[in-house]
Amino acid sequence: MSMKPLTILGIETSCDETAAAVLRLHEHGPEVLSDIVLGQAAQHAPYKGVVPEIAARAHVEGLDGTIALAMREAGLGFGALDGVAATAGPGLIGGVLVGLTAGKAIALAHGLPLIAVNHLEGHALSPRLSGKGATFPYLLLLVSGGHCQFIAVMNVGVYRRLGTTVDDALGEAFDKLAKLLDLGFPGGPLVEQAARAGDSTRFSLPRPLLGREGCDFSFAGLKTACVREAERLGAPNYQDKADLCASFQAAVLDIVTDRTRNAMALFDPIWGAKGRLVAAGGVAANLALRGKLEALAAERNYDFVAPPLKWCTDNAAMIALAGAERLRLGFSDELSFVARPRWPLDEAAAASRPSHAPGRKGAKA
Ligand SMILES: Nc1ncnc2c1ncn2[C@@H]1O[C@H](COP(=O)(O)OP(=O)(O)OP(=O)(O)O)[C@@H](O)[C@H]1O
Ligand SMILES: [Mg+2]
Repeated sequence: MSMKPLTILGIETSCDETAAAVLRLHEHGPEVLSDIVLGQAAQHAPYKGVVPEIAARAHVEGLDGTIALAMREAGLGFGALDGVAATAGPGLIGGVLVGLTAGKAIALAHGLPLIAVNHLEGHALSPRLSGKGATFPYLLLLVSGGHCQFIAVMNVGVYRRLGTTVDDALGEAFDKLAKLLDLGFPGGPLVEQAARAGDSTRFSLPRPLLGREGCDFSFAGLKTACVREAERLGAPNYQDKADLCASFQAAVLDIVTDRTRNAMALFDPIWGAKGRLVAAGGVAANLALRGKLEALAAERNYDFVAPPLKWCTDNAAMIALAGAERLRLGFSDELSFVARPRWPLDEAAAASRPSHAPGRKGAKA
């Protein structure tokens, strides 16, 4: 018997993008009917970072119009929906509450099931939005503003964390370097742009955990080394900044390549056949990183898949997809669902600490 398509409204408000999308999940894959992202960069730029209170207020002001636009572009009324999916964590709690409450209200008013989506599950499934190649299982490198993890994605809802950062997320490191060099906000793309014009050999920067067993990450030492070099430069010109960005990005690429090799070695016995490497999250928009991962995948006889750039950073299409996949499996949530500022994808792994966490050197997570 063929499956009835599911039409889902997705809502995303966990950080600094107010987003709504309508997605129809067919038996053969997803169809994105509308995909609206209202960015808040201009409001946060004066502070060179996301200010939680400003983000929450901007979601309040922008969400109703964003949802209305997503419905209009999809050409549908709420009555045509099969469910409402809203990010329920992890993220900035003020923003999460705005989106989750809106989702609950629409679900209640129209008698629809609510799906409370883990934002990380949205990122994890985002490479499946374009329907090209990201079939289960796959080795996911999730690199975003708040996370840096390897996850064996076995199926919808079946996630096994293989490694994680013991300190900063990779996106956070990009953002801090941009702030340090006064490049502007949001920082990641500006560091990538500056790196293109820089000399990656000028600064000799550390590569924490390189060559160590396992596939955890650490970026704190690299960040501190960048701070020290910036202080030594005093008043850097653009070329100095570009050289530091290029040196930083080269260190990042070395680290990620080394860690991904080890993650593949852990993933191979789980899967066995030709592996699939998938990158997702905001930093997966970095073209130098994508190029490196693609080359490594080819060398190791893996397929490489990454979503189009617009679905790397926060969006509601990935939340709608996660919601639709969960609803298809029969999962929905009570309207009493409580937002979760912290919500690991693999709860079992998160309960133990990463293998290189302070005080547990060398122990297995
Ligand atoms: N081209 C790029 N190069 C490097 N980093 C980038 C690039 N584009 C975006 N980023 C980084 O990606 C991050 C934003 O990604 P995303 O929106 O997925 O994170 P988040 O939602 O804030 O965090 P999380 O998903 O972990 O809760 C920022 O840290 C940003 O600097
Ligand atoms: Mg995100």
